[in-house]
Amino acid sequence: MSDNFQNQGAPQAGAHYSGAAKTLHWVMAVLVLLMLAAGSQMLSASDAEKAEATVGHSAVGLLVLGLLIIRFGYRLRHAPPALPADLPGWQSRAAIWNHRAFYLLIFVQAVAGIGTAATAPYEVMTAGVLPLSALAADDPVWFARFVALHKLGALLIASLAAVHIAAALYHHFIRKDGILRRMWPGRAKGAGTEDGAK
Ligand code: HEM
Repeated sequence: MSDNFQNQGAPQAGAHYSGAAKTLHWVMAVLVLLMLAAGSQMLSASDAEKAEATVGHSAVGLLVLGLLIIRFGYRLRHAPPALPADLPGWQSRAAIWNHRAFYLLIFVQAVAGIGTAATAPYEVMTAGVLPLSALAADDPVWFARFVALHKLGALLIASLAAVHIAAALYHHFIRKDGILRRMWPGRAKGAGTEDGAK
């Protein structure tokens, strides 16, 4: 794992994220939360309803996977701003592992989704044009495995998001250390970016 995941050699505390990092963060946050909400509507759906719902669901899921890859590449080249020096060690470690777990879980979730679509007993036509179910033959055993992994992934992502949001609110309202503000959309006055630019 790159040093950029560990704040080593990172810009000083008080710097804020760049516009690109903020945009990727908030677009992905909204899309993943929408996917969780819309996906949970599919739990009790019939195969015909799932075939219809997955036209959009799989398209947005592949978009999330593409954005994740872009964000991962960006993050490897741009160290995030340093965490406050007085943050207890366990909280710094928890923040770093929370971010790593997000990357890993979203990646696994998208791969499990592709596996689910490929082996499903119903047709998955991504965005109405890409027949994902043609990737492999229907396979009830692998379908059940992929669905189980996809369900577990959704549960873990939702739990991690709850911890992430609670931590952001704790920093903002209790510690008042500016952690949420440096990721907030818009330009922070007087602070440098993760690139060291003003
Ligand atoms: C990356 C973010 C994603 C999230 C948060 C997400 C979330 C969910 C959730 C909550 C469900 C309902 C639970 C389940 O049946 O597994 C679901 C179902 C499903 N998802 Fe996703 N998904 C994502 C990506 C994808 C991708 C990339 C694909 C395919 C390309 C996909 C294909 C499917 C399919 C086919 C189902 C229906 C499974 C069934 O028949 O029960 N998902 N998704």
